[in-house]
Amino acid sequence: MAKRIEIVIVDDNLGLLESLELYFREKGYEVAIADNGEAGLALIQARKPAVAIVDLRLPGMSGLALLKALKVEGIDCRTVVITAYQEMETTVQAIKLGAFDYLHKPIDIDALDAVIDKALSDIPETESIKVVDEGFKENTIVGRSHELKEIFKLIGLLSEVKTTVLIVGESGTGKELVARAIHYYSSSAGEPFIALNCSAIVENLIESELFGHEQGSFTGASETKKGKLEIAGGGTLFLDEISEIPLHLQAKLLRFIQEREFERVGGNQKIKFNARIIAATNRDLAQMVERGEFREDLYFRLKVFEISIPPLRKRKDDIPLLVEYLIKKINRTTGKRIQRISKAAITRFMEHDWPGNIRELENVLTRAVVLSKDDCLQESCVVNLLRRPPVDNPASFQLKSLSEMEAQHIAHVLDCCHGNISRAARILGITRPTLRNKIKSLDISSGDS
Ligand SMILES: Nc1ncnc2c1ncn2[C@@H]1O[C@H](COP(=O)(O)OP(=O)(O)OP(=O)(O)O)[C@@H](O)[C@H]1O
Ligand SMILES: [Mg+2]
Repeated sequence: MAKRIEIVIVDDNLGLLESLELYFREKGYEVAIADNGEAGLALIQARKPAVAIVDLRLPGMSGLALLKALKVEGIDCRTVVITAYQEMETTVQAIKLGAFDYLHKPIDIDALDAVIDKALSDIPETESIKVVDEGFKENTIVGRSHELKEIFKLIGLLSEVKTTVLIVGESGTGKELVARAIHYYSSSAGEPFIALNCSAIVENLIESELFGHEQGSFTGASETKKGKLEIAGGGTLFLDEISEIPLHLQAKLLRFIQEREFERVGGNQKIKFNARIIAATNRDLAQMVERGEFREDLYFRLKVFEISIPPLRKRKDDIPLLVEYLIKKINRTTGKRIQRISKAAITRFMEHDWPGNIRELENVLTRAVVLSKDDCLQESCVVNLLRRPPVDNPASFQLKSLSEMEAQHIAHVLDCCHGNISRAARILGITRPTLRNKIKSLDISSGDS
């Protein structure tokens, strides 16, 4: 039989103490009680319960002193403090000392239930992976899959030869990161890395952005300006989203790649081009060539060397390492200090398909880190972020009551968990007893196991 969840209750009001003991015991919890602070602390130290309910005003060791002792010893137990209404000051102190929540006397049993449910659904899962905040290096390509190891080798080879490279891959797979790596590992690392996103500039400005212009060459060209080709010097010109370059400019681009020299718009002086071109796309250029949307000759010029970055769903082995790396990165940018991630959360990540690839993973992790209440990233923090809202056909959209929605959602989760109550409760963020109650009251059929 699974170990029952333990609750320790510390209160000097014996009547209240006994009725709470009875109440929680009947709900299926393992309950231990103490009527003073010292005994309460000893009990919590010895039994390490999931939750402790602690009265703040106790004879001898106060509730606050007890909380302080738990904090000093690093005992991981959710404490719900009970306080008299006037004690705002102590309540604030209690929360500062790490209390999970507080309730006022006289106790409203429904409110207590809700707080305990919340505390239990938030209990750190025991199995977790430690995030070691050492050796963080920005712009690192992280991964250990076979596919990524092959890419590491290519980066090594390409850093030695200054050939044109085409990087293809879905959005968010790390195309720009790979382009930068090729540049920074090469002997031209000291030269500029210039990125131009071909989809982000107005069509009639691309030419001037790329080639630069001479003063007065068109309305608004008040002075001579260097284009990206010139600024790139002997470094790298990264042409991102190359598929978006208009057809008429493709011819010009091709010509300059072949001749390795160009002229500024409105100028006639030939300028040498010494940089390496790395182009990237998330579209199927071969198909665009077939449809006449991209020049075949330019396509072959660019794909002298092609690197294809597989989507994350095809290299899920990379997920645990990426998660660890990205959490370190996010800790730095958000100022949070997530130190562990539960294995159950990693399992969730492994099950997800990541249509937005590593960028989506980074976004989900950022939200989870911000929402996380302690230093361990729990499964409960990530499930909702991974669930996609069902795409409702507006025509079939029905207005439903909250309880209908709740019943439907619980049934769906139970279904996905093959009727496994513990798993479903964990996903729903409620305790098993609460889930059982809901199944009964909402009349949900479940394959209870
Ligand atoms: N293997 C990896 N290790 C660590 N971080 C990564 C990795 N791959 C991608 N990233 C991070 O994911 C984010 C997206 O990467 P990047 O911008 O290079 O993708 P992209 O393929 O250029 O996407 P898009 O097509 O949307 O422009 C960046 O923050 C990048 O640092
Ligand atoms: Mg990009």
